[in-house]
Amino acid sequence: MTANLADMRRDYTRDGLTEAQAPAEPLALFQQWFSDARKTEQLPVEANAMTLATVDAEGRPHCRVLLLKSLDDQGFTFFTNYDSAKGEQLAARPFGAMTFFWPALERQVRIEGRVEKVSAKESDDYFQVRPLGSRLGAWASPQSQVIADRAELEALLADTERRFLDQAPTCPPHWGGYRLVPERIEFWQGRASRLHDRLNYRLDNGNWSRERLAP
Ligand SMILES: Cc1cc2nc3c(=O)[nH]c(=O)nc-3n(C[C@H](O)[C@H](O)[C@H](O)COP(=O)(O)O)c2cc1C
Repeated sequence: MTANLADMRRDYTRDGLTEAQAPAEPLALFQQWFSDARKTEQLPVEANAMTLATVDAEGRPHCRVLLLKSLDDQGFTFFTNYDSAKGEQLAARPFGAMTFFWPALERQVRIEGRVEKVSAKESDDYFQVRPLGSRLGAWASPQSQVIADRAELEALLADTERRFLDQAPTCPPHWGGYRLVPERIEFWQGRASRLHDRLNYRLDNGNWSRERLAP
């Protein structure tokens, strides 16, 4: 079983978020965004978008949306900055939980397991098929670090563009893939009257077992 999802990508050009647009109080911004989402008839969600949860050294959970970029017998692979907050959390606690939500299908899939870095070759192979802008961005952006403003990011990008004027960007050492090796996969199918179907697969001593969970 192998699925190559490297070509699944869309450019995000719809909007920005400036300091001037952002109210001082976060709940007001959440309400505004939530109301926008409700008005949007069908959110352009990509089927490979999922939420990844990790925990830090103190056991506090953190989650964020990422794109699944490949899936095979070894596990579920995504790509990111190894020096990001999630990278630090995975170095301290190499476990993760992914949730996929496919609203039109009324389905959810939850996957849990150990997370490991993919080989440098796998990261490099995927890096090379990314659009040039994304490759430059991986060099330019110190993901999860505090920056002064949008101008600082754009200056970092301009420096990177100058650096790679005459040569194709190689895969940065701080960027690459992680593979979540599943130990539990739960499939949830919405059913009438909240009596949903939940089938849970667990890996015990190398063998998957299946059980039904109450909704
Ligand atoms: C639809 C969507 C897709 C995203 N895909 C990725 C991705 O594939 N890799 C990534 O590093 N960040 C991706 N992000 C940004 C992450 O949600 C997050 O902001 C970033 O990885 C920093 O997370 P961290 O500070 O917890 O490390 C995506 C965000 C959204 C909304």
